[in-house]
Amino acid sequence: MPDDRLIVAMDVPNVIMGMDLAEKLGDSVSFYKIGLGMLTGGGLALANELKQEFGKRIFLDMKFFDIGATVEAAVRGVAQYDLDFLTVHGDPHVVRAAREGAGGSDMKILAVTILTSLDRADLDASCIKPGDIADLVQERAGIALSNGADGVIASPQEAALIRALPEAEGKLIVTPGVRPAGAALGDQKRVMTPADAIANGADHVVVGRPIWQAQNPAAVARDIIAEMNSAKSIH
Ligand code: C5P
Repeated sequence: MPDDRLIVAMDVPNVIMGMDLAEKLGDSVSFYKIGLGMLTGGGLALANELKQEFGKRIFLDMKFFDIGATVEAAVRGVAQYDLDFLTVHGDPHVVRAAREGAGGSDMKILAVTILTSLDRADLDASCIKPGDIADLVQERAGIALSNGADGVIASPQEAALIRALPEAEGKLIVTPGVRPAGAALGDQKRVMTPADAIANGADHVVVGRPIWQAQNPAAVARDIIAEMNSAKSIH
C-alpha cells in the first residue's frame, strides 16, 4: 500500500536511470523528488512522465533564489506542469514572488530555511547574523510561512521547533536527513529515523541513497513505510 509520506529523492543522473528506479519501486512508492542534479539529464521530462503516465506525485527541488520578477516568472513556468511541490529559498521577497507565480495552481511552495549541510562557520563566512542555527531556522521558517509559503524543508531535529510556531498551523514540514536504523549516513550529519521524524511533526520524509543505492529498493521503501506507521505524530 503506497504511503505518500515517503518521498524518494531520485538523485540519479538521467531519465533512463530514473525510470529504472521507478520500475523497481513500482507500487511501493507514490511520491518522487527530482532535483538540480537531473536538470540536464531530462529531469522535467521525467517529472512529467511519472506524473502523467504513472500517476505519481512530484516534488521538484529547484531551490529558486533570484530577484522577485525572475522567481515569479520561473515559478509561473513550472506551475504549468501540474506538479505537487516546488522549493524556493525562504527569503521573504522570494517566497512572495513564488506565491504570485504559482497563481491559482495546486502546486505547493516549500521554503528552504538554512541548508542542513551548513554549520555556524559557514554562516559566518556568508555574513549571516549571529545566533544558534536552530533559532535562525525557526525564525526563517516563521518569516517564510507568514509570507505565503505552504510549508518548509527542515532537518528532523528542527521539525518540532517549527511545528511549535503559530505560523506553522496547517502548513507542511518536509524533512530530508532521514535514515532507517542501521543505514549509512553518507554526508548527512543530523539524522533521525523515519518514525522519529514523523513523531517530531514532519508530514513527509525525503529519503535518497538508502533506497536508490539498495539491492532491493522496494523492500527498503516498504520497511520505511512500516516504520512510519509505528510512529505517533505530535500533530
Ligand atoms: O540520499 P539522501 O537521503 O541523503 O538524500 C536527501 C535528499 O534531500 C537529497 O536530494 C538532498 O539534496 C536533499 N536535501 C537535503 N538536505 C536539505 C535539503 C535537501 O539532504 N537541507
